[in-house]
Amino acid sequence: MKIISGSSNVAFAQSLAQHLQLPLGKVDISTFANGEKRVWVEEDVKGENVILVQSFGEPTDQHIMEFLLLADALERAGVRHINAVIPWLGYSLQDKVFRPGEPIAAKVVADLISHSYIKRAFLFDLHNTSTPGFFSIPVQHLNAHTLFADYVKKTFDLNNSVVASPDFGGLKRARVFAELLDLPLVKIDKKRDLNTGDVTALGIQGEVKNKNVIIIDDIINTGSTVVSAAAILKENGSQSVHFLASHGPLVATAHQKLHDSALDSIVVTNSIAQVQENDKIIILDAAPLFATELKTWM
Ligand code: R5P
Repeated sequence: MKIISGSSNVAFAQSLAQHLQLPLGKVDISTFANGEKRVWVEEDVKGENVILVQSFGEPTDQHIMEFLLLADALERAGVRHINAVIPWLGYSLQDKVFRPGEPIAAKVVADLISHSYIKRAFLFDLHNTSTPGFFSIPVQHLNAHTLFADYVKKTFDLNNSVVASPDFGGLKRARVFAELLDLPLVKIDKKRDLNTGDVTALGIQGEVKNKNVIIIDDIINTGSTVVSAAAILKENGSQSVHFLASHGPLVATAHQKLHDSALDSIVVTNSIAQVQENDKIIILDAAPLFATELKTWM
């Protein structure tokens, strides 16, 4: 068994390798003068089972291309099976046709992966739990619930806390998490303008006065959803507001917005490579979750 990583999230791959007690295989990844990616697997992988790790974070298209080239290189080098670990599946939010004339980008990416010699894909907290159905290979869909539950139990007074969903779309995820912690569930109603992306929190269902509110979501991107949720929660008397998101692509403008917001803390995993730019942000390592799952398939 060997681990080969693309360049998008080497820290995650190193942590995974450490938890699986395997060395990271030697790969050379560069870019030709014309902008094309060039990959070279220097490791002897003939007859080996290989775990190919790549997060599809920014620059997303380049990282997807790197992944496809690595998969092809591994196949040509005679690997036995390739298991893909993709902690963040870029394009996964585009899981349906929102406006006539749009593609289903998540399906396009699933097709690419399914046709690149991958035996099985290990994915993490997809926006839509139906997305594994876009793949024509088996998918193991992991989630951050236990990682986040351990963090919450260590950090907050559970007697005075509630779990909140920042929008009705995330209700199922929040309900499972609230049940895991045996905490009440609060619902926030949100509206997003599809053209401008602007988010407005419209109202709250549930008791939040003097409570620690723990919002859970799959992703924080611009921060608009959670900043708007935090504002309405504080207006309604919440003692503190904390946010847990499995994925933190965090566009450039998000850091200042989060810093200036009513949020007390923001917890993300390292499914996408993170740089600690904001003292409100706490980064949890998701690699042990993948290691535990992978061990059951080794
Ligand atoms: C939306 O349905 C998602 O679950 C997230 O709430 C959303 O993508 C977060 O994006 P942003 O941080 O840009 O509001």
